[in-house]
Amino acid sequence: MVSELRLFVEPEFHPAAQHYLSVLQGRGVAVQLEVIDKLSARFLRLNPELALCVDQAGLWLCAHGMKMQPDWRAEVPRLKRASLKSEMIARACNLAEKPKLIDATAGLGHDSLLMAHLGAQVTLLERHPILFTLLEDSKKNAAQDAFLSPVVARIDLIFADSADYLSQQAVQHQSVDVVYLDPMFPQRDQHQQAIKKQAQVKKQMQLLHLLLPEDGSMDLGDALLGLARQVAKRVVVKRPRLAVYLAEQAPNHQWQGDACRFDAYFQELLEA
Ligand SMILES: C[S@@+](CC[C@H](N)C(=O)[O-])C[C@H]1O[C@@H](n2cnc3c(N)ncnc32)[C@H](O)[C@@H]1O
Repeated sequence: MVSELRLFVEPEFHPAAQHYLSVLQGRGVAVQLEVIDKLSARFLRLNPELALCVDQAGLWLCAHGMKMQPDWRAEVPRLKRASLKSEMIARACNLAEKPKLIDATAGLGHDSLLMAHLGAQVTLLERHPILFTLLEDSKKNAAQDAFLSPVVARIDLIFADSADYLSQQAVQHQSVDVVYLDPMFPQRDQHQQAIKKQAQVKKQMQLLHLLLPEDGSMDLGDALLGLARQVAKRVVVKRPRLAVYLAEQAPNHQWQGDACRFDAYFQELLEA
C-alpha cells in the first residue's frame, strides 16, 4: 500500500525513531531510517519528496519543505468557540442527543475531536498505517491535556478498513446512531470550488493528498455509504459544497455551508 519511505532523524531522537520504525514496519510500512545532522527547514526544502521525520514533538509527515502532524492540542481554541448551535456538523449528526457514532474516515481526526467535544461517543476508524500512527500520537498527547482529556476519553481509535469494520457490524446486527463519512475528494475537482481555506489547513490537505494518491490509496468512499446505511440510523456525508452525491445517492436532507455541505441519509425514511 505504501512504498518505502525515508525517516529523517537527528542523533538525539534516534531511540524514538527506532520505536516508530518498528511500529510502522509492524503495520506493513517499509521505512528506511536516515540519521542526519540537522532537521532544519532548509533540509526539508532540499529533500522535497514525501518522507517522515521524528523530532521532540514525535512523528511527522513531510514533503515540499513542509511537515505536518494532526495536532489535536492546536484545535483547543476552535473547540472552545464551538457549540451545538453554531456548528453545522452538530445539527447534521444530531450531537445534542450524545449519539454513538462511527467516524469511518478519520484522516486527521479533527471532525471527530469536535464531535466528541460536543458530546458524541466516537469510534474513529483509519486504515492508512501512517495516518493511524500519527493519530495514535495525537490522542496520547491530547490525553495529557486537562481540557482535552475528557474529550479524547470519548474517542476509541481503531486501525481498520471501514468497509471490513462496517460489514462485520452488519453481520453481527450491531447498530449505531450515526456513521459519519468524509472521504477524500479528488483535488482537481476541488479546484473548481471557491473554497477559502486557512494556510495551515491547505498545507495539511496537500500532504494528505500526497500520502493518499488518487491512483492508489485514495478511497472515494462510494462503497462505504451502503454499508453505513445498514448499521446506522443516520449516515452523514461531508462533501465539498458543489460535489456530486456520494455513490450517486440523493440524501434525505442537506445542510449547506460556504465551503462544504453535509448530506444526511435517515434509516426511517429508507424503510418507509
Ligand atoms: C478527507 S480525510 C478525513 C478528514 C477528517 N474528517 C478530518 O477531520 O481530519 C479521509 C480519510 O479517510 C480515510 N479512509 C478512506 N477510506 C477509508 C476506509 N475504507 N477505511 C478507513 N479509512 C478510510 C483516508 O485514509 C483518509 O485518511
